[in-house]
Amino acid sequence: MEINSIVSEIKKLKREKNAVILAHNYQIPEIQDIADIVGDSLKLSEEAAKTDADIIVFCGVHFMAESAKILSPTKKVLLPAIDAGCPMADMITGEKLRAYKEENPGTTVVCYVNSSAEVKAECDVCVTSSNALKIVESLDSDKILFAPDRNLGNYINKKLPNKKMELWNGFCITHERVKPEEVAIVRNKKPGVQVVVHPECNPAVVELADFVGSTSQILAHIRNSEDKEFIVGTEMGILHTLRKENLYKKFTLLSPALICYNMKKTSLEDVLHVLKTEENEITVDEEIREKAYHSLNRMLELSKG
Ligand code: 13P
Ligand code: SF4
Repeated sequence: MEINSIVSEIKKLKREKNAVILAHNYQIPEIQDIADIVGDSLKLSEEAAKTDADIIVFCGVHFMAESAKILSPTKKVLLPAIDAGCPMADMITGEKLRAYKEENPGTTVVCYVNSSAEVKAECDVCVTSSNALKIVESLDSDKILFAPDRNLGNYINKKLPNKKMELWNGFCITHERVKPEEVAIVRNKKPGVQVVVHPECNPAVVELADFVGSTSQILAHIRNSEDKEFIVGTEMGILHTLRKENLYKKFTLLSPALICYNMKKTSLEDVLHVLKTEENEITVDEEIREKAYHSLNRMLELSKG
């Protein structure tokens, strides 16, 4: 089937079935272009929580679709690429977190949204990279575990040294691949050009950056900047929106390794397929969902305030 026919079929089915398509900033350009909402993990969770659609087609990875189901249990949530996972989310399990809590009673557990429903059910509050600083700062606890992203945790610890959070040993395999030497090389080639990175990068890379933020914070920073050129240290999918929003600005990816293969699994054909068949539905055990809802909803509340 030709691209134009796929797109019009998707639009038709979306209307007929009252479906909404949510896409993460790292999705391929064609997916971002047909989505109703493109955003970071926080924005997509907020949209999932308030949508009045009957079906949510989530173009992203598994934990994102699962979060949508946790927040909107009466909606049908479909994940077009059912094998799109997040290797960082798999670096912690509910069982391992329960064992940690037993050994460390009284610890407040903060979970990055890049985690399974079972892990969210075991934590006190979730965060995304957009609101992590604000939420951790608001916590009245001197014993905090941050899981699973040690790099984001490290970034928060540096910004909020009085919190001294203990860090789980997880990381994003995509952002971790960027080496500090790559920052030095690109700075040499392009003196004076800002380097913007995601906090999932290794601390040695974050240390060398001019700006650190979530995907939506990076987009806003560049949109509002007078500079005409940027070096971008996050997954390459973000370049699509950056180029659409900033026609006269120039972007260079910090490293060719900045590609998340899981985020690239979703195709237009997959979206059309799930809209037609309603296959790949995401379900969450109700007992786990209720507990995970508490952590996610607390995040949304603290994020607003
Ligand atoms: P944000 O879009 O929330 O910054 O998340 C980045 C990411 O790695 C999602 O998997
Ligand atoms: Fe997971 Fe990293 Fe891919 Fe995001 S970019 S889905 S954190 S592996």
